[in-house]
Amino acid sequence: MPIKINKFMMHQKILLILYFLLSYDGVQGERILSKSKDAELERQLKLLNKPAIKIVQTKYGDIYDCVDFYKQHAFDHPLLKDHNFHPKMKPTLSSTKKNASDSTSSWSSTIWSKDGGCPFGTVPVKRITKDDILRQIHLPPPPEDVTFDAQFDVSNNNSGPKERYISGYKVAIARTPYDANNKFKGAGMVTNFYNPEVSGRQHSACRLKIQQGSEILQVGWRVDPTLYGDTKTRLYIHTQVDKTNCFNTFCSGFVQVNTGIPLDMSLMDSVAHRGGTTFEGRMYIEQDLDSGNWWLLLSDNYEQVGFWPQEIFTGLASFATNVEWGGVVYSPPGVPKPPMGSSYFPIGDNLYDAFCRSIIVLNETGMVNQVDKVTIHIDNPNMYQAIFERLESDKVSYLFLLYGGPGEKSQI
Ligand SMILES: *[C@@H]1O[C@H](CO)[C@@H](O)[C@H](O)[C@H]1NC(C)=O
Ligand SMILES: *[C@@H]1O[C@H](CO)[C@@H](O)[C@H](O)[C@H]1NC(C)=O
Ligand SMILES: *[C@@H]1O[C@H](CO)[C@@H](O)[C@H](O)[C@H]1NC(C)=O
Repeated sequence: MPIKINKFMMHQKILLILYFLLSYDGVQGERILSKSKDAELERQLKLLNKPAIKIVQTKYGDIYDCVDFYKQHAFDHPLLKDHNFHPKMKPTLSSTKKNASDSTSSWSSTIWSKDGGCPFGTVPVKRITKDDILRQIHLPPPPEDVTFDAQFDVSNNNSGPKERYISGYKVAIARTPYDANNKFKGAGMVTNFYNPEVSGRQHSACRLKIQQGSEILQVGWRVDPTLYGDTKTRLYIHTQVDKTNCFNTFCSGFVQVNTGIPLDMSLMDSVAHRGGTTFEGRMYIEQDLDSGNWWLLLSDNYEQVGFWPQEIFTGLASFATNVEWGGVVYSPPGVPKPPMGSSYFPIGDNLYDAFCRSIIVLNETGMVNQVDKVTIHIDNPNMYQAIFERLESDKVSYLFLLYGGPGEKSQI
């Protein structure tokens, strides 16, 4: 079994040190860094930010460094020192028999302001600022901080697991029914994007989550001022390996290969207007059956964004046992819960509701299986709800997980 010392830990130690420095300095509620502490922060930033070969800008005004593929933060991971990864890597995926359509929904072609993103051999990485690090101190602990496989409703009682989430979080989700023999090689969904109103340290998100024990991977969208410093709807990934975790590329663990899709990109152009236009995006996490790496695939073209190397996992090195789809919100103690999804309870109409549709898992042999049976879990039905049902439009019909709600913000 590999020894799991990794950079996450180092990162968390940095945050811990900063936390104490700041709480000491912050007695009066002011956060003034002394010169030496400021210097320490600078030193950490230097470790996290890699030299830029080119600097590019999205049409939303976000600035990205094009970082040499081989210098990306992922390779600071001690278990990836001897990797033989390269920028032309392609997964061998048995499931998504890519019938690469000429779909216009290619994410990479639409985001850059002018000269089309980063050059081959580099990957786009948002430069981490002092503010980013200081805000991260206030990120809540991840709700996944609970080991829970065994707690799943073994009784087949669909009331779901108890006390699974740390206080402050609320979910409205669907997940694969508990089965001790679950062996998933991937999962996916098509989801639409909203921009629920959050402020302060609240956040509101929708995600696909795959898990075995304390190893958890997520992809989705979120509005999270603590993480991003703004209230835009943004793409995100989250990586958890045992007690260590982070968003996007803040820790080493995810190898980017795509030159055009940043992990934290704004989705504001694709945000749905309830009852009006709706945009949707496909999100897959799928294991390469040859290498065991978990690939992140986005858009109808299954664009290959990058992968979590098999080396960093123990359980997930082989397969996932649990998959979840749906909404999650957070607010700190004493602060009202923010809206989720469309900010309204679902009414059974995909033009009005936030949804995850066409949800799939890949079974042990990597074959796509449509998920038609799920366990719904809703923490507080007075704030959020979730419905799993088939909706027809024209000649096609899909199974939809429709989720969302106003939280503690009253509906108009
Ligand atoms: C790919 O798409 C074309 C056109 O829609 C269709 O005719 C063909 O059967 C598809 N191929 C596969 C492998 O799905
Ligand atoms: C399911 O669990 C709930 C809560 O423990 C309990 O009230 C209910 O009776 C159970 N239902 C069945 C069918 O066992
Ligand atoms: C995997 O899924 C395919 C397609 O549904 C099915 O034919 C096959 O029997 C499944 N394999 C296993 C091991 O469950």
